[in-house]
Amino acid sequence: MSRYVVTGAAGFIGSHLTEALLARGDEVRAVDAFTDYYDPALKEENARAFDVERLDLAAEELALDRVDGVFHLAAQPGVRPSFDNFDVYLRRNVLATQRVLEASARAGARVVLASSSSVYGDAEEYPTPEDAAPRPLSPYGITKLAAEHLTRATPVEAVVVRYFTVYGPRQRPDMAFARLIDALLSDREFELYGDASRSFTFVADVVAATVAAMERAPGGAVYNVGGGEEASMRDTIALLGEIAGRELRVRAEARARGDARRTSADVSRIRGELGWSPATSLAEGLRAQWSWALDRVAAR
Ligand SMILES: NC(=O)c1ccc[n+]([C@@H]2O[C@H](COP(=O)([O-])OP(=O)(O)OC[C@H]3O[C@@H](n4cnc5c(N)ncnc54)[C@H](O)[C@@H]3O)[C@@H](O)[C@H]2O)c1
Repeated sequence: MSRYVVTGAAGFIGSHLTEALLARGDEVRAVDAFTDYYDPALKEENARAFDVERLDLAAEELALDRVDGVFHLAAQPGVRPSFDNFDVYLRRNVLATQRVLEASARAGARVVLASSSSVYGDAEEYPTPEDAAPRPLSPYGITKLAAEHLTRATPVEAVVVRYFTVYGPRQRPDMAFARLIDALLSDREFELYGDASRSFTFVADVVAATVAAMERAPGGAVYNVGGGEEASMRDTIALLGEIAGRELRVRAEARARGDARRTSADVSRIRGELGWSPATSLAEGLRAQWSWALDRVAAR
């Protein structure tokens, strides 16, 4: 049994991670500020199964006593809004991370930092290995890259995991699959910005990679955490239509500022070093997210 802190524990990925650690018998201190980037009631729902300490990591002290490791997932996500609210992104992604890393260094706790494929921007090569030059296209990606650099500027043992578009039950409502499902359920038109393709990654696979990084990765390591199948948004819309037995009306819009055309994860490093590879197919994962959404509607 280990003692862990999970920051951002009421969020989409953090709540799944917290539940998985608790299910294994680990002791978990779950921390979240319940920011209003999306409805905090959804975060309350995410964290129904455990207690959360309300703490703004950018302002308040994270006291770490007898803690083995900190999973630092708290952040301000979202590519598009980062052009307008840079101060919020700086505060939640850079300042808060610096404070978490300093507190972890003082306590001798290991850190796993959740970073993003957004650090690659329109990448040098596809599939993209971790050593490709980072050249983020959005202020969001820039703050995530800054957070990565802070792990090296702080005397802390840290591992960076770069998540590639995560989906599954509880997905943030601003993300594409959640919006697709919402449009299907309410028979509304879906606005498709460009037709990007992505290494979509199922949340349970992301949790497994994150735990493996805490337990087995050497300090200083950086890993891509990406799904096995790259798919375009149009292919995904067709697949979801088959699963749901409904057809989505799509309105094509121009590609949004800051969105990479493509992401494609080269996961050979994490496969080789940690024995992790994505286990969930896009069809399986989409089915899980769709049935979770149906259950929520039925429970209302
Ligand atoms: N979802 C994805 O596809 C994806 C992809 C790449 C990287 N990531 C990264 O994974 C992590 C989790 O993302 P998510 O999609 O679950 O987002 P989320 O918004 O659902 O979760 C983040 C949580 O952090 C909390 N938070 C923000 N600022 C805080 C602060 N100052 N103090 C305490 N808590 C704070 C928020 O209240 C929120 O609950 C983030 O670091 C994000 O950048 C996510």
